[in-house]
Amino acid sequence: MSDLRTQSAVLTAKALTEFAKTKNIDLSIEASDLTLETPPKTEMGDLGIPMFPFAKDFRMGPPAISKEVVSLIKPTNIGTFIAVGPYVNIKFNKETVAETILEKIISEGDDYGKKAPDGISALNGRRVMIEFSSPNTNKPLHLGHLRNDALGESCARIMKNQGAEVFKVNNINNRGVHICKSMLAYKLFHEKNGDTPEKLGLKSDRFVGDCYVEFNNYSKTHPEAEQEAQNMLLAWEKGDKKIHALWEKMNQWAIGGVKKTYARTGVSFDKLYYESETYLKGKEIILKGLENGLFYKEKDGSVWVDLGEIKLDKKVLLRKDGTALYMTQDIGLAVTRHNDWDFNQLVYVVGSEQIYHFTVLFYILQKLGFDWAKRLYHLSYGMVNLPEGKMKSREGTVVDADDLIDELRNGALEEIKAKGREKCVGDAPVVAEKIAIGALHYFLLQNTPTKDMIFNPKESLSFNGNTGPYLQYMGARISSILRKAKEQGIQSARSLSEEERKSAFSLLTDKTEWELIKTLSDFQKVLLKAAENFDPSCVASYLHDVAKSFSRFYHDCPILAAENSVLISARLELAKCTLTVLKNGMNLILVPFLETM
Ligand code: ARG
Repeated sequence: MSDLRTQSAVLTAKALTEFAKTKNIDLSIEASDLTLETPPKTEMGDLGIPMFPFAKDFRMGPPAISKEVVSLIKPTNIGTFIAVGPYVNIKFNKETVAETILEKIISEGDDYGKKAPDGISALNGRRVMIEFSSPNTNKPLHLGHLRNDALGESCARIMKNQGAEVFKVNNINNRGVHICKSMLAYKLFHEKNGDTPEKLGLKSDRFVGDCYVEFNNYSKTHPEAEQEAQNMLLAWEKGDKKIHALWEKMNQWAIGGVKKTYARTGVSFDKLYYESETYLKGKEIILKGLENGLFYKEKDGSVWVDLGEIKLDKKVLLRKDGTALYMTQDIGLAVTRHNDWDFNQLVYVVGSEQIYHFTVLFYILQKLGFDWAKRLYHLSYGMVNLPEGKMKSREGTVVDADDLIDELRNGALEEIKAKGREKCVGDAPVVAEKIAIGALHYFLLQNTPTKDMIFNPKESLSFNGNTGPYLQYMGARISSILRKAKEQGIQSARSLSEEERKSAFSLLTDKTEWELIKTLSDFQKVLLKAAENFDPSCVASYLHDVAKSFSRFYHDCPILAAENSVLISARLELAKCTLTVLKNGMNLILVPFLETM
């Protein structure tokens, strides 16, 4: 319908310009000068354009302008123009709307939703680098990472869909004292036995995480352990061969395991950055900034930035011994990344506890004068917990990502068995895994990113709520209708001639058909909003609307059993187009599509 909105605005703008000419007023109005609103009641029309902004130019009341404008618009097949008080309202012609939207979906296919009404992808020219996940190599991924990964991957897909070039990166934190703690526990408790993940039958990242928990338990009774971990870090920094060998081995375990989880959830990266390779960068940039008077030196030799300009205090950038800090590293990393792939926007998906860090980081990068620093964005997200309470990684009460997905998969499998559908779904465990991933991602993405949330596994799996499985179910339902049609040799309207199609679509005038078509027409608008706000939640709720809308249509309007063959082909086409939108949309929010369920 976005096309019809544009067309309506063009006709209204033309009429306004024409009216100005008759009154000898020098005024040329473009469609883009107009405000497009939705009237409060559908009876009043589908679109309303206020005339208030023109009262001054015409020296007339808006209702009078509206009447004149409407009288100047010739009858068109878009719909009817009516003067309603100060508004020019347009009531779209249902037949034309149905035809326009469905023809667009048929001709664009999988590309439907990518282009704005002007035929251009809105994010063309944007080169976005997006960092997400960024785990530490002392433990496996947990529930918080799953939210992070879902947000990062989904935003990347949505921006790409809207025309951006996207480069996905990860910032793997593989050095530091916390990494040494897992290493120390390994030396204390496992080295002698030659323990390996394979030997203990553990996923390799899990084994490293278990070592970390062992360290924390041990250090409660052995306070000197903290110092030992610090010493180990110093030895690592000096390049101690033995320590590096252990570090390499345990890092491979950690990263190898994490990669398996990425494969499971469908998350991927164009480049992995490792902190061990980037943590020394940034120092020269700070020293240069110091030379240029952007930063200042304290008496003890440490280097600082004054944050008065952004109403904050000050921040240390180099310690008195000249060593770098988290902030210094991130400055170096951003510059390195820009050299690697010259983005014009950089997005960081990182928890809301780091808002201060990114505010300061962005300020410093701008102060340093990098032209790309204008478009930095911290996609900050809230905490996620389970109904039973908070997670703590030191105590090992953190919700492990793999365990959680296993639990969801088992739940889905039980549901399939309980419904007696084990035989009809194909490979039941594979389907159950896809349902688990769909349930997880939909639940995580359905919430506004900034808000804290509780992940409720049971609720997420429900087949008929506001859930991923509900979308999957509706997709499978439509697929099954299409299969049945094929078996019966029934074809959808796209196989008809242009004239026949036109008259077929003109039959789609039921209230539920109209609602469904209107919903399908909103796809691009929703995707663009999600891309601009880095918020996949609007795509999630939109797809829920599509699914509900289809369900209402299917309830009221029989498809294969409709009165006549023309109506059957039109409704079948509507189902097909719904599936196109649903399938593409589901992919953007990481909910796997299922042919049968
Ligand atoms: N690894 C860090 C953490 O666990 C997050 C890193 C975020 N990325 C960055 N460029 N600072 O908190």
